[in-house]
Amino acid sequence: MYLTKEEERMLNGEFGEGMRMAMELLVAIGDAYDAERMVPISRAHAASSGQEGDMYFVELLANGGASCRVPTSTNPVYDIEFFERVFEIPKEEAEVARRVKVGYKRIGAILSWCCIPYIAENIPNYGETVAFSESSATPYVNSVIGARTNREAAQSALAAGVIGKTPEYGLHFKENRRGTFLVKVEATLEDEFDYTLLGYYVGKQIGYGIPVFTGISKRPITEELINLCAMLNTSGAISMFHIHGFTVEAPTVKEAFQGDIPKDKITVTDHELKRVQEELQTTSGKIDLVMLGCPHYTLKQVGEVARLLEGKKIHRDVSFWVCTSATTKLLAERMGYVSVIERAGGHVVADTCIDEPCWHAYRDKVGITDSPKCAYYRRFKEATVARLQDCVEAAIKGERR
Ligand code: F3S
Repeated sequence: MYLTKEEERMLNGEFGEGMRMAMELLVAIGDAYDAERMVPISRAHAASSGQEGDMYFVELLANGGASCRVPTSTNPVYDIEFFERVFEIPKEEAEVARRVKVGYKRIGAILSWCCIPYIAENIPNYGETVAFSESSATPYVNSVIGARTNREAAQSALAAGVIGKTPEYGLHFKENRRGTFLVKVEATLEDEFDYTLLGYYVGKQIGYGIPVFTGISKRPITEELINLCAMLNTSGAISMFHIHGFTVEAPTVKEAFQGDIPKDKITVTDHELKRVQEELQTTSGKIDLVMLGCPHYTLKQVGEVARLLEGKKIHRDVSFWVCTSATTKLLAERMGYVSVIERAGGHVVADTCIDEPCWHAYRDKVGITDSPKCAYYRRFKEATVARLQDCVEAAIKGERR
């Protein structure tokens, strides 16, 4: 891979050991993908977590004197002080999460601790070259915004944030952004959960590639797109998609495919979505907890939970959690949503992800969630998936029919 004089000097350690290691990682990735050069990025998002691998890598770079050259946001860890008060978090585990948080602060990252930074804390524009990791973030910035990123790991995104560059390959080139698979949607898509089911089904069917959705007649809203992105990249490994007529690089089906429309196609009807929903409903009967906000809930979604719980009481045997960003929680407090949810017996927590050790207490419990991604992480004995309204109803009754 061609390196500029400055990049050579970074690789030789002239800018410090932290930058040298970041550069070494990016050059190795570039070589693996036959990249010819590095390209400047304007921002990055590191899918950090409060676990050991992330602690190791961020400390490695920070101890070597590295700091972010471009805005680099961070994924959820957890609200350590809060969870230490309500659950028993083993001291060593809390210490790991604490060191991750300190590490990212030392390296100059945006301490967003949020998995949907592209709507508030770190928003790329159309055409920006960026390095975004995290399941919903990569497809959202590529497909909905029209920025360009490869499917980064937490480590490669952080290294790119430190260097301010990324190897040029894959989705940084227009020709690699063409659709590879036609998805004819005949199903009725009425709300966010329908998009969750659609994403989960299509990701599972296709696995890998760039689906082009046709037949969607109503412009999807932000929350629907977030869910579609997260699920396509949970049941599958899909870093980009097009929706004919709605996403930025798909004004026509032909443009989405950059030419010929491939023969490979699937049709999704109400029948397929119903089947997926049934498959995800793994249990019924008594529940111990409700987990919402995977991906992090937006203000609109927190407001919807408050509306459903207004004047109601959550069953005394059920714990009720809504995960969101600190930014959204602040606004939700101002708008009275948090106090409505708390009066009903629920919690709204910032900075926290369902895939963190802070949920140990629920290892043997049965949960219900509106997110197949949340269920996939298996932090509970059993996690069944249902529409938000059904999750709230189950919380109130203490059971899922
Ligand atoms: Fe976000 Fe964690 Fe779910 S990063 S999408 S809350 S698993």
